[in-house]
Amino acid sequence: MNHSIHIRIANKSDAVNIASYYLQLTDAAKKKFAPHDFSVDYLSKNILENNDYVSVIAEDESTKNILGYAVTQLWIFDYDIDRWSTYHIPIKNEDRKYCCFAPSVADKYHHTGIGSHLLQFTKSILKEKNIDFILLWGGVKCYNIPAVRFYLKNKFKLIGHFEYEGGNYDMLLSINEK
Ligand SMILES: CC(C)(COP(=O)(O)OP(=O)(O)OC[C@H]1O[C@@H](n2cnc3c(N)ncnc32)[C@H](O)[C@@H]1OP(=O)(O)O)[C@@H](O)C(=O)NCCC(=O)NCCS
Repeated sequence: MNHSIHIRIANKSDAVNIASYYLQLTDAAKKKFAPHDFSVDYLSKNILENNDYVSVIAEDESTKNILGYAVTQLWIFDYDIDRWSTYHIPIKNEDRKYCCFAPSVADKYHHTGIGSHLLQFTKSILKEKNIDFILLWGGVKCYNIPAVRFYLKNKFKLIGHFEYEGGNYDMLLSINEK
């Protein structure tokens, strides 16, 4: 990875830059990555100052441009809990052991290691919070081969398949597994 890229937790003052980052993604990338609203107002009020989310950015140290953004929600939606129960994986939000993760990297920086660094940094924060498992926020589209390969390379396991606007895979990472 380029030495001038800094990975850090995002805060409220990053809302404008994160919104601009999202706007410049291609429509194809936005179809694959749309975990939440990316208006400055929504980011500020609902994500960046909310203890239920961990937002991590990759920032170009000289230009301060954001090159990647990964967001983790520290709870799981009820409809996902229902689907995961069909894999015999019971999730209880009150136990605070499962979270869901959604990464993205600016198109021209794909395959340069930024996504993996965002994940490793996020994992270190989740470990401090005693969270054990990461699943994918909304799954991953079956056609999104680079992302599926990215997750497998980073030790996620393929758990199941579901239909929502096409085929999707559910994948799971056990944070403490070596
Ligand atoms: C998925 C994503 C975050 C990966 O980030 P990245 O910075 O490109 O990934 P890395 O450089 O850390 O790559 C790690 C591994 O991912 C896989 N990978 C990444 N880009 C790939 C590509 N274009 N083709 C094939 N495999 C690819 C490879 O296995 C790679 O390991 P390698 O370098 O040994 O080949 C990035 O591709 C992205 O932003 N995609 C669009 C948004 C998206 O799909 N988000 C996920 C929604 S579920």
